[in-house]
Formats: sequence, C-alpha cells, structure tokens
Amino acid sequence: MDELYPDVSAIPLQPLRLDWLDSRGVEVAVLRLDLIDPLLSGNKWFKLSGHLAAAREAGAIGLISVGGAHSNHLHAMAAAGNRFGMASAGLLRGNAQSTPTVQDLRRFGMHLHWLGYAGYRARYRTDFWDCWRARYPGYYCVPEGGGGLVGALGCAPLVEQVQALLPGIGWSDYDAWWLAAGTGSTLTGLVIGEAGRHQVLGALAGPGQHAIGRQIELLLNEAGMAAERGYQIFDACRGGFGRIDDELGRFLLEAEQAAGLPLEPIYTAKALLALQQQVLAGCFPAGTRLLFVHTGGLQGRRAALTQMQRL
Ligand SMILES: Cc1ncc(COP(=O)(O)O)c(C=O)c1O
Repeated sequence: MDELYPDVSAIPLQPLRLDWLDSRGVEVAVLRLDLIDPLLSGNKWFKLSGHLAAAREAGAIGLISVGGAHSNHLHAMAAAGNRFGMASAGLLRGNAQSTPTVQDLRRFGMHLHWLGYAGYRARYRTDFWDCWRARYPGYYCVPEGGGGLVGALGCAPLVEQVQALLPGIGWSDYDAWWLAAGTGSTLTGLVIGEAGRHQVLGALAGPGQHAIGRQIELLLNEAGMAAERGYQIFDACRGGFGRIDDELGRFLLEAEQAAGLPLEPIYTAKALLALQQQVLAGCFPAGTRLLFVHTGGLQGRRAALTQMQRL
C-alpha cells in the first residue's frame, strides 16, 4: 500500500440523525474523514497525497507552503513532513503569535516565517516564491491549502471508495454530496470523480463565490472536464471567513450534542448550518439521500472554542 495515501478501507460512513432532517424526510450520511488519522485528518491528507508523491519523486528534502495561524493545511503538512521524513517551512499570515496550531507546527519541526499582512497578500505575485526557493533550495512548494489540480485529484478517488461503504448503511445509491468549500479543490476532486453521475454541493466558508466558482471552472478545464456542470456552490460564510456569530456557535454545540458529531465553526459547522437552511427551505424533496463529507479541521477547534466562549 502507498504510505503517502490514506488507508481508506475503514473510513466510517455514519447516518446523521437530527430533528430537522427527520422532519423533512431528508437522509444524510457523514463520511468521517476526520477519523482517518489523528494528525493527517479530514480532506487534508487526500489533497496533500499527490503533492507528497511529487515531492518524493523530485527528491525534495522539504515542503514549504503558506497559511494562517490556525491553518489546518499547514498543520497537516508539518505533520506529514514529520511522518514521511521531509523538513517543512511555513510562511504565515500576520504577526508572530502563539496559537495551539502554531505550537504544534513548532513541535512538528516546521520553520516559521511571519510575513505580516501586506507580505502575505503578495503570495499571488509571480515572483513571490523566488526568494523562498533561494532560501530553501530543494524544498517542494505546496500551493495554498494544498489545492490546485494535484490536490483535487487526490480527492477524486473518494467517489469510488464511498460506493463500497453504502451497503453498510443500507443505501444502494445517493442523490448528492454536501461539503464545506474553501478553495473548492476538494469539491472539484469529487466533481471529477463523479463525472456527472451525482451533484456535488459546496458550502462556501469564505466570501468570493464568483472567484471560487471561476477557480473551480479553471481546475475542471485543466482536468479536461470543461463541460462538467455537476456542482453548485452556496454562500455559507456568514459575514466572512473565520467569523463566528452567536447563532453559529449555538448551532454547533446543539448539533454536536444531538448527533454526537464533533464539529468546528470555520468549515464543518458552517456547512451543516447551510445545509439546515436549504433543507428547511424545502430545497430537497423527502427521500433525498445526501453524503455529507466531514472535512476535519478539528485541530482548529481549540482556538475557536475560546472565541466561542466570548460570544
Ligand atoms: C476543515 C476544512 N474543511 C474544508 C476545507 C475546504 O477545502 P477546499 O479548500 O479544498 O475547498 C478546508 C480547507 O482546506 C478545511 O481545512
């Protein structure tokens, strides 16, 4: 088995029982990617797998990428570097601060550089990586969020893999996927894997629906699937990326309690709350069966809970 790809033989697929789903006759099963590994959890390992393989193939001695002080992506990348014998460097947004995530990054041996806010915005400039390549020769540059086509392609096999899990919950088929979307790479991977068979519905954790939509189209183009229209994206950001409001905080705690499902407020709880809105608005007929992808991110729950306690 390829050690750089998660062991998917035992991903739990669990029915989700919540009053608001039952009341509308909508069935949801959760693909618990958060449980695949204590450190490389959620969609992260799937997105990173192709990058890790490319880094190894290129004989890279380390991995370098960008992210925030709570970044799930940098957390997973640092853990992966640590596990698979590659060094890691992280270019962080803002000024130096100590968060539970940053403490873990140090523990995993990642070299940290704080770029400030303007410096971080420069990450889209074509010459941004030049000085970092010079400073870290032999490091493989992982795109933001572990995305790009390589990241998306790491998620595509999930479509095939989930088929084997359906009989375990008594399903022979499903109507659509529902998942949190950031860069849209995970969603794009599922669209590629589905090749039009089922819709993939994405709840956007940040603003910029138009830009993310364009990004998804570009990736599909790159994958040679320009005509593929098997997806839809919904605004779920509630005023901004990382914003946690009262209603979201309460919803998260109630849903966790009612369903026994751990969530975090940046991606998964926002996605579930957006699903609730669609279900209660009658967007899904009774009998609809949805696969909800738990994309992980629970490492970020530690700092988010502190923020929620202040609400
Ligand atoms: C927990 C979690 N869920 C969902 C996403 C969104 O994934 P993508 O950027 O592939 O849309 C991310 C970011 O990568 C994430 O950390």
